[in-house]
Amino acid sequence: MDLDQRLDYLKKATKLSKHDINILRDPASFSFLNADRMIENAIGVYSLPLGIATNFVVNSKCYLVPMATEEPSVIAAASKGAKVAKNSGGFSAECPKSLMIGQVQLVSLPISPITARLRIEANKKEILRIANSKSRSVVAKSFRVRELVDKSQNKMGKMLIIELLVDTKDAMGANSINSMCETVSSKIERLTGGKAVLRILSNYATSRLVKCRAIFSKDDIGGKDIVENILYAYSLAYTDVYRAVTHNKGIMNGIDAAALAAGQDIRAIEAAAHAYAAKDGTYRSLTKWYKSGNGDLAGELELPIAVGIVGGAASVHPISKIGLKILGVKSAKELSMVLSAVGLAQNLAALRALASEGIQRGHMRLHAKNIAYTAGCRGNQIDLVAKKMSEENSVSVTRAREILSSLGAKRMDARHNNSS
Ligand code: MEV
Repeated sequence: MDLDQRLDYLKKATKLSKHDINILRDPASFSFLNADRMIENAIGVYSLPLGIATNFVVNSKCYLVPMATEEPSVIAAASKGAKVAKNSGGFSAECPKSLMIGQVQLVSLPISPITARLRIEANKKEILRIANSKSRSVVAKSFRVRELVDKSQNKMGKMLIIELLVDTKDAMGANSINSMCETVSSKIERLTGGKAVLRILSNYATSRLVKCRAIFSKDDIGGKDIVENILYAYSLAYTDVYRAVTHNKGIMNGIDAAALAAGQDIRAIEAAAHAYAAKDGTYRSLTKWYKSGNGDLAGELELPIAVGIVGGAASVHPISKIGLKILGVKSAKELSMVLSAVGLAQNLAALRALASEGIQRGHMRLHAKNIAYTAGCRGNQIDLVAKKMSEENSVSVTRAREILSSLGAKRMDARHNNSS
């Protein structure tokens, strides 16, 4: 499809309006004024390609997944992984809770930590009432108190951490949780005589875990030898941190690109994902791979994903709003389940390529266009030069320049022959 056909298809398949389509068509739709409202000292707008990953079926619902990424192959790989999963019924995902933690750090206690803790717990109702006095969209349900001792070289002593457990519902929740922590801290200081220093959410969203599973038929991924190679690849990612980081980077290629297109805070998602990968004390693969009864490949991905469909950039950035519309998700939980499916599809596609022909062939085919552009090709020269380099399996700026100048020479010859 060309751009017009893609946009027509989107308009028919989703709830996008004519206005939305016009926004997508107009590269200046995210104006400097938008940028200047969002950040400080704005000087312009930085654009990324936005594409659509296809074939996603999650919990029996079909999704088109918008992805914002500068990396060639990511969208093709996600679509390919999703297609293989679709042949076996798609992804099944679950996200039981949407609880986030807000931390208040209490230091310099003039009383014993145990007494302080008892006073705080005796005032639980009042503390929760104060926490909930400012926000209606998210709700502090409970809190817990932990006693910690500084383990840094500064030996700052004991501290109490009061952790609000907040149901963020359809919001990511960062702003509301931070406000709650700030609001309750003076009450906690008065109760204990301690000093509240940090009052901030934790991005380690372990009560927003998402779990996703899929079966990938051995025939669809190239046979039993490929299944076995994928299990070898997984064994390295589970066992060795140097491989685990790259393996997880591949998973996040998909999750970040889809989350960004939907206006999410991808730094928060990344930080939590990598901490979760090290939850048992060693950094490991976020996915698990094993052989199913009949020799097909079964994959699982579990990670925390804190996202929102109300508030945040998702409700002010015009393209993010469109991203959410294309996804058609009705809740933050649904969004996080789709993102987990994208991560699993992305990992399957990377492992399948790595376990067979390697990733460079497919990657370079797409990358060739960028190389051709870098070498000075413009207009249809880009496709011509990229195609030739891919056929030769030799993608480099030097080769692109050689092909470009041979094209120029051929044109000169043609002109010469025509005139003579
Ligand atoms: C490249 O951006 C991502 C991969 O390196 C992931 C992986 O090795 O699993 C292909």
